[in-house]
Amino acid sequence: MSFSGENIWIIGASSGIGAALARVLSAQGATLILSARSKDALESLRKELGRQHHIYPLDVANYSDIESAINYITKTVKKLDRVIFMAAIYNPANIENMDVAFTKQLLEVNVLGAFHVAKATLPILQKQSEGQLALCASVAGYVGLPGGQPYSASKAALINFAESLYAEVPKNIDIKVINPGFVRTPMTDKNNFSMPMRVEPEVAAIYIADGLRSKAFEIHFPKKFTIFLKFLSILPYGIKLFLTSKMKNKS
Ligand SMILES: NC(=O)c1ccc[n+]([C@@H]2O[C@H](COP(=O)([O-])OP(=O)(O)OC[C@H]3O[C@@H](n4cnc5c(N)ncnc54)[C@H](OP(=O)(O)O)[C@@H]3O)[C@@H](O)[C@H]2O)c1
Repeated sequence: MSFSGENIWIIGASSGIGAALARVLSAQGATLILSARSKDALESLRKELGRQHHIYPLDVANYSDIESAINYITKTVKKLDRVIFMAAIYNPANIENMDVAFTKQLLEVNVLGAFHVAKATLPILQKQSEGQLALCASVAGYVGLPGGQPYSASKAALINFAESLYAEVPKNIDIKVINPGFVRTPMTDKNNFSMPMRVEPEVAAIYIADGLRSKAFEIHFPKKFTIFLKFLSILPYGIKLFLTSKMKNKS
């Protein structure tokens, strides 16, 4: 089994892609530490996957929660092989209908949460002289599109942060960014627009599990969709902004 004997901390494991990933990694032999805010959802996932796994409910926006989790994990498992940051919140928004309080919370979870996790876990991985930190951003961070500004901007920040960590930390620590296209989860169930090439969370989890073992910095899928957006992102501003402005009426 590919992840046999590994201890993997999934933050944002209570639903959607994180829960699906937990099922795949557990089936492939990993021992998991499952975190998110919803203790009940984590408990029921552990019940499903087996008592060898651990749960540690937390709010990534609170650094003290992350510190306590690290304290628990270092006492509970001998080695922390991978840390996978999946936590995020989202509401469809544009600048006219943006909820300022929710946007503050979104930045605290999606961006500050990732900083908290990196700050607390990298010393552990460095002490072990190996380990992986994977941050889940999104293709929404590739290029500014109409109708999702705070969320997309938070994911652009996360991609930038992952790139910066990759350049900064010693190469024995494996830094990865995960950029999914659309996946059917409670997050995208909020959308009332069409979501091209949307995949099921179980499919996303397989892409991610495979990607975690690969040498590539970025895990992105489905490729037809992500490559189109990558191409859009590298166009000169004159063309790119013309095209993204055309998308406004469709968003
Ligand atoms: N679905 C997509 O199409 C898609 C596309 C690209 C990227 N992504 C990214 O994939 C990741 C997973 O999203 P998903 O689609 O699976 O959505 P989801 O089902 O809503 O999962 C989000 C996870 O984050 C956790 N979370 C939220 N706020 C938290 C907090 N303050 N502290 C700790 N955990 C928190 C949630 O658990 P609690 O509510 O229990 O805390 C849940 O486990 C996110 O980073 C998302 O941005 C999703």
